[in-house]
Amino acid sequence: MSESPSTLQPGDVVMLVDERRKQFILRLESGAELQTHRGVLHHDDLIGAAWGSRITTHLGYSFVALVPTLYDHLLHLRRQSQIIFPKELGYILLHLAVGEGATVIEAGSGSGALTVALAWAVGPAGHVVSYDRRKDLQDVARRNVEKFGLEPRVTFHERDIAEGFVERDAGALFLDLPDPHLYLPQVRAALRLGSPFGAILPTANQVSALVAALDQNDFARIEVCELLLRFYKPVPARLRPTDRMVAHTGYLVFARPVAEGAGAALGPDKPPDDDIAPA
Ligand SMILES: C[S@@+](CC[C@H](N)C(=O)[O-])C[C@H]1O[C@@H](n2cnc3c(N)ncnc32)[C@H](O)[C@@H]1O
Repeated sequence: MSESPSTLQPGDVVMLVDERRKQFILRLESGAELQTHRGVLHHDDLIGAAWGSRITTHLGYSFVALVPTLYDHLLHLRRQSQIIFPKELGYILLHLAVGEGATVIEAGSGSGALTVALAWAVGPAGHVVSYDRRKDLQDVARRNVEKFGLEPRVTFHERDIAEGFVERDAGALFLDLPDPHLYLPQVRAALRLGSPFGAILPTANQVSALVAALDQNDFARIEVCELLLRFYKPVPARLRPTDRMVAHTGYLVFARPVAEGAGAALGPDKPPDDDIAPA
């Protein structure tokens, strides 16, 4: 495996952060410049500098050059709809077993935060199929996917999923739209039986409607959860949570389509707390 150089090169994507945590993510280009609220940074002053080093604007303010992660990119994604945040994205990827070579369907595309995360995770041998009934929103998702150079891994369909999915035997399927309970027959037709299905919903009454519909449509292993993320002030002598936190983003629901009547063999669903508690 070839090592990347330890200095910034033309074409590198760099994240510049100042003392107030203001961030810019940019691709370095010889001769270009970045206008900031704290002065101008010439890309040529960055090229050749060491990763992790301090760069100064013409007004004398400092930024530090960091390697942007997928997490950083997704928080800065251009968005025109509500997006799924990294806190949920990581759990969704694991629950849906989205890894190298997987085939995954999602709806709706929205601003493409989930599309980018899925396309990144399936690797060059995998594929993501993304549905949205609104062209304007799907265009935002498409542009965000292109920004990452991931477009060969994604097929976009501008289509209402009420009309069904084109694919059959998909390995996983995720819905981020307001009324997933209406589309479970379409989901069953597209997803291989036994494979993971998931959805995210902002309100509890939407979750109730989905859980009832999952029961009626032969889905088993139903799990409902929400993920709470609490940040801490990283001060060694006074380590404590930050004053504010994001209290709610959405509820996650996961389930598996099974053969007609087969869910009865599993008994009533219970939370997986027994499985995840420490021994
Ligand atoms: C909250 S956004 C999805 C955000 C996206 N997951 C992200 O992370 O950026 C919901 C999207 O679902 C689309 N949508 C709603 N109902 C739909 C349907 N029946 N068929 C296809 N798309 C639908 C909307 O047009 C909207 O773009």
